[in-house]
Amino acid sequence: MKGLINHDDIAKVLVSEEQIKTRIAELGAELRRDYAHLDGEIVLICILKGAVMFFADLARAMDLNLQMEFMGISSYGNERKTSGIVRITKDIDTSIMGKHVIIAEDIMDSGLTLSHLIQLLSSRNPASLKVCCLLDKPSRRETDITPDYCGFEIPNEFVVGYGLDYDGFLRNLPYVGVLKPSVYSGEE
Ligand code: PRP
Repeated sequence: MKGLINHDDIAKVLVSEEQIKTRIAELGAELRRDYAHLDGEIVLICILKGAVMFFADLARAMDLNLQMEFMGISSYGNERKTSGIVRITKDIDTSIMGKHVIIAEDIMDSGLTLSHLIQLLSSRNPASLKVCCLLDKPSRRETDITPDYCGFEIPNEFVVGYGLDYDGFLRNLPYVGVLKPSVYSGEE
């Protein structure tokens, strides 16, 4: 993919820029209400790369004192399906022991990545550990997990934008859109 973004590759806008902004403001207020009174530091963890936009906007919407940390993971499996076996490619730089940890994720699909990540981070003894997901595809779930905070429930479609990619591209679309099947199936 080169040059300008081809918006014709997008079949439809699923969540608009405005809807994202409004919902993140609501999530920020919810988190502020739940965490403002707690003792202990708050750590917001961005799961790279998909969560980057959501993380940056959510952190500002929360308006709480917090540490921003980044974690890179790669899951074994093919491109379209996660196996849930997660390898850390970049770990957070701080200890989370006794702290309130919030994981910011772009999407929960099978749920395997997050359930593995929760196991892993729990073993580091945080005071609490919650998941805040922008998008949730509950119809794809393969494990018993639900996000503690969720932006939007979406149908099982190939979504891109606002952090989510197709082959490494389209993360910088300001909205969440459904990719035309012709783009990934190679048909005209
Ligand atoms: C996506 C997403 C989650 C995971 C969700 O990451 O950010 O980490 O897949 O899938 P699951 O619920 O089926 O486990 P991806 O592997 O696409 O990496 P990226 O964030 O770097 O794009």
